[in-house]
Amino acid sequence: DLECRHCTASATHRSIVFGEGDPGARVMLVGEAPGAEEDRSGRPFVGKAGELLERMIAAVGWERSDVYIANVLKTRPPENRTPLPDEVAHCGPWLASQIAVVQPSVIVALGGTPAKHLLGTSTGITRLRGIRAEIVVAGRAVAVLPTFHPAYVLRQYTEEVRRAVWEDLKQAVAIAGD
Ligand code: URA
Repeated sequence: DLECRHCTASATHRSIVFGEGDPGARVMLVGEAPGAEEDRSGRPFVGKAGELLERMIAAVGWERSDVYIANVLKTRPPENRTPLPDEVAHCGPWLASQIAVVQPSVIVALGGTPAKHLLGTSTGITRLRGIRAEIVVAGRAVAVLPTFHPAYVLRQYTEEVRRAVWEDLKQAVAIAGD
């Protein structure tokens, strides 16, 4: 059944937002954690950030149904706060399983939480973004391309930030097409 007695918000969350998309996708997009809309609907990236994410992926020629979309945490933290390290540690193995099953060519890490978690670093997203990294999941190499989270893009809607995300997604497209 859909009950998670996890570390966070077991009292406040409503859904387990596991992820969705093409199970054979070459591209996986990984966010931080569900927000209010996602918690209500049980689907990842369906709120404001999700709308922008869809426009961003459409701009590089993908469709939402072509990719697989997930988050590091599968349930919404109270007040949408940033996930705590122990929450990431507990929920992280689910993401690893998703990566192992889908076997994407490239994972676009949306923001600091997935980028730091996947790369095992404390370096901030501003320095990580746009630089292709490689990780091994279940014995298989996969490229990781960190970029800004769409919620950050909405808050920081500048030419510079939008161009950065565009370039990062173009790079991810190139990796997926390899
Ligand atoms: N922000 C995220 O990081 N993930 C979602 O699913 C929605 C908003």
